[in-house]
Amino acid sequence: MQTIFSGIQPSGIPTIGNYIGAMKQFVALQEDYNSYYCIVDEHAITMPQDRLKLREQIKSLAALYLAIGLDPEKSIIFIQSEVSAHAEAAWIVQCNTSLGELERMTQFKDKSLKNKRAGVSAGLLTYPPLMVADIILYQTDLVPVGDDQKQHLELTRDFVERFNNKYSSGQPILTLPEVKIPEEGGRIMSLQEPTKKMSKSDKNAKSFISMLDEPSIIRKKFKSAVTDSSGIIEYDPINKPGISNLLVIFSAFSGQSIDSLVTMYTGKGYGEFKDELATAVIAVMEPIQQRHAELLKSDELDLILDQGAESARKVANKTLQKMKNAVGLGRKS
Ligand code: TYM
Repeated sequence: MQTIFSGIQPSGIPTIGNYIGAMKQFVALQEDYNSYYCIVDEHAITMPQDRLKLREQIKSLAALYLAIGLDPEKSIIFIQSEVSAHAEAAWIVQCNTSLGELERMTQFKDKSLKNKRAGVSAGLLTYPPLMVADIILYQTDLVPVGDDQKQHLELTRDFVERFNNKYSSGQPILTLPEVKIPEEGGRIMSLQEPTKKMSKSDKNAKSFISMLDEPSIIRKKFKSAVTDSSGIIEYDPINKPGISNLLVIFSAFSGQSIDSLVTMYTGKGYGEFKDELATAVIAVMEPIQQRHAELLKSDELDLILDQGAESARKVANKTLQKMKNAVGLGRKS
């Protein structure tokens, strides 16, 4: 059976962008793959975090993984910092990656520009090697992510090829992973600035729908979503990014194609469309929110995370040892 790995940063409450781009795929894929789903808390501290809030968000994200339908019998769910092999492997990856490669990463360029380069953490630059480590430790075949992670996956593939060429004699040491981005919904846009990606760390809460927003808030946020003045519901991401983004969201939550939604809403107004879109999103989110609240109150969650970390450690340590042997660290040959 092939292996999947993916992760989400607990740097805020996941949005419907995270859900459509990544989490929804996780649930479907766990049926056919050996799956590892990680709460990547070490990635979250590349940007400043409030420690108590971070702790809360780590647990909340773990509960969300389960609430959306990830089954601990089928998937290994764990917290990155509880498996020390990630940080150790990341060091070996860093020492086999050039500064130039890291400085070219658009996410680094974007985040360091906004926060003035000299003041950002070195971890922001070495973030992609940690992500490479996450993926290779489980000999991952497939990585389901949204569109914004494409470049990081290319870096991972380049690293694996380079590492195998340099250090393996015969059998490759590391598996070359493939990226899996959904055909539709790989990049859900902000509700307020539809040419910008929806992000859980956006300062304007009206720009995203969090997976834990109350139904009345969800309805309100869709109502105030930026569209255009034509009043015609059609899919045209270049000229009508607002309504096109809402069509993608509606399609992801209703299971109906964009074409059939466009036909259904011909001649109808944005108001009615937005209201029914909100109803479709709430219908999926409400049961997830209820299960999330129950899980946070139960002891089940800690048990699942303990077991997840233990299972992950076994696999990760094996690959880490192979990497250490390959580069000549320690004493074991
Ligand atoms: P993060 O936490 O920013 O986002 C988690 C997942 O959600 C996807 N995503 C989106 N998809 C569609 N539309 C959006 N607006 C949107 N925003 C986010 C992301 O592409 C991602 O799949 N570096 C990663 C976390 C990570 C990881 C890994 C992922 C660390 N190690 C190893 C895969 C494998 C990140 O920051 O995701």
